Amino acid sequence: MDSILVTGNGPLNGQIPIAGAKNACLTLMPATLLSEEPLTLTNAPRLSDIRTMTALLQSLGAEVTSLQGGKVLAMSSHDINNHKADYEIVRKMRASILVLGPMLARDGHAVVSLPGGCAIGARPVDLHLKALEALGAELELKEGYVHAKAPGGLKGGTFEFPIVSVGATENALMAATLAKGTTVLKNAAREPEIVDLAQCLRRMGAQIDGEGTSTITIQGVDRLGGATHPVVTDRIELGTYMLAPAFCGGRVELLGGKRSLLEAFCQKLEQTGVTIEETEKGLLVSRAEGVRVQAVDVTTEPFPGFPTDLQAQMMALLCTAEGTSVLEEKIFENRFMHAPELIRMGAKIDVHGGHATVTGVDRLKGAPVMATDLRASVSLILAGLAAEGETVVSRVYHLDRGYERVEEKLSACGAKIERIAST
Ligand code: EPZ
Repeated sequence: MDSILVTGNGPLNGQIPIAGAKNACLTLMPATLLSEEPLTLTNAPRLSDIRTMTALLQSLGAEVTSLQGGKVLAMSSHDINNHKADYEIVRKMRASILVLGPMLARDGHAVVSLPGGCAIGARPVDLHLKALEALGAELELKEGYVHAKAPGGLKGGTFEFPIVSVGATENALMAATLAKGTTVLKNAAREPEIVDLAQCLRRMGAQIDGEGTSTITIQGVDRLGGATHPVVTDRIELGTYMLAPAFCGGRVELLGGKRSLLEAFCQKLEQTGVTIEETEKGLLVSRAEGVRVQAVDVTTEPFPGFPTDLQAQMMALLCTAEGTSVLEEKIFENRFMHAPELIRMGAKIDVHGGHATVTGVDRLKGAPVMATDLRASVSLILAGLAAEGETVVSRVYHLDRGYERVEEKLSACGAKIERIAST
């Protein structure tokens, strides 16, 4: 397993290009199952999770061709000859559950493994299943698999999500495009990735209103056509790299960054004393020498609130803030596993249930640390950028799931970071 060696260095200066969103691409790709016509995605990120989704779609009979070094995915699912998503793939990537709704909507049957939990929580899929049942799906759980049927096809219905769920909204939205009649999804997720999916489905011929609000209305159609769609910018990668100059000082321009994708995060970052300017090419983030990061309190919420996927990275920044910060994680039940690793670097963090209290110290000290999940791993790299000495982050396969060429992007701005291939 590769590791990443980071050595604390001076301010960062330069530009970082932001890729297409992993979490948008992982729901756009299954949308190809809804149509016999080709669906082409541009601005696709080059990540291991995308390769896993590619393998899953191919196992179902879809053709997925990666072009231009992986930035373009040309897909066609003219003949779905296998309707079973196997545990071996699903257990590696929870987003695999997103093939359930499209397969059910298109062919009236699907067998998909339950994904199982992961490091940050139990990650149930009950809301995915309840939403599909509201569209007439008949579901049976057998030996760890969901056996889904829709004899005569799905029918439009109304479903109110008891809690906001990004994935369940995506599954229901895709399924509803081919359901007979009208579907209304209430308390739907509002994330930019949902808006991106709706825009892609509309290009394919779907009739959707209200995406980006809590109520999405879909008029089912008989069939969907093909489309070419650009994957929206990755707001989590954007926020992650916006933090790099906050840690180290300097000025970094995030190419393709749009403030509208993460307004709540930007406001919090500005409260710490960091400057954010909108430029023609993206967002310019800077922290002047001698300006110390100030403590702020953070609570994670569904969009448009502060994203849970940026909580670990923000906690790492606040470890050297002036003052005490309280972070409240309201989305997942176990998303503070980066805390013990940051404590190994000298951070002062007290975790009680869903709250973490961070008392700022002057500077962290480099240490060998271990990544436990995707966002925790990148928070440790960010911490290492400004720490004294060397930090070795192991198990970076987590990192490669969601961040393309992290060492290249940060080195280009002056960071001392390199990948150590496992022997
Ligand atoms: C998506 O996960 C993202 N993943 C996650 O990003 C992100 O953290 C999460 O949304 C929240 O924004 C992808 O898009 C591939 P949820 P998802 O359904 O859809 C509970 C990353 O680092 N819940 O919105 O699985 C659930 O346990 C990843 O890129 C149910 O109870 O998240 C959680 O507490 C991590 N029943 C809450 O809802 C369900 O059926 C929100 O989960 C579904 C979810």
